[in-house]
Amino acid sequence: MSSEFENIYRSENAALDRVLRRALKKSGAGPRPGPGGKAGPDVAGPFQILDLACGTCREAGTLVEVFRDFDGGDREVRLVGADIRDRELDEAAARARALGNARDSFEFLTENCAKLGRHRELGKDFDVTFLRHQNYWNDKAVWQRIFEQGLEKLKDDGLLVITSYFDREHALALKALERAGAELIVTERNEDTRLLLDTPGKSVDRHVAVFRKKR
Ligand SMILES: C[S@@+](CC[C@H](N)C(=O)[O-])C[C@H]1O[C@@H](n2cnc3c(N)ncnc32)[C@H](O)[C@@H]1O
Repeated sequence: MSSEFENIYRSENAALDRVLRRALKKSGAGPRPGPGGKAGPDVAGPFQILDLACGTCREAGTLVEVFRDFDGGDREVRLVGADIRDRELDEAAARARALGNARDSFEFLTENCAKLGRHRELGKDFDVTFLRHQNYWNDKAVWQRIFEQGLEKLKDDGLLVITSYFDREHALALKALERAGAELIVTERNEDTRLLLDTPGKSVDRHVAVFRKKR
């Protein structure tokens, strides 16, 4: 990949970092009190992120840093990315290796995310399910299932976070996620979104929304 593209991705990730941190702060969600009532996580093991339909997962390093801070700053992070296309996942794995981050773990699965339930060993205790540029209007039935599966894999107090390229697709996804059993906490416009010229009204991480499981 040329360094010109890599520079563009770096600046997109920096914008994603900012809008995610803003949305998480507005959500009011945060680490549970640890032992003795001190701020910080009260659970053992890594903070777990499931990145569905992750493609080449250019956001892996950004997610690790944003959610580690969100969690209180101490825990390791385990990121599991899944996509139906292996070629993208090979690039995702190479990108994760290039981060040179030995503290955290990165795994990539070739998987139809609409059928993630059959992947029992993945468990249901992710702290965050993340979907960058969800593609709801490409196939509404499939993405409805992907949203349901993403919620299924979350622990009770986990968060599901999406980003969207388009205003209308974002609005449709918000409704679909509510039907899937999610409760919208906050939706945030990315002020530093990069316009993409291939389709009118399309831009990178144009919106970010944070959900929890409906109680
Ligand atoms: C709009 S792209 C977003 C990719 C990546 N998250 C990004 O932001 O660059 C949609 C992604 O969904 C994946 N996808 C579509 N249907 C899928 C399915 N049933 N299971 C897993 N991945 C799927 C595609 O392979 C593609 O990588």
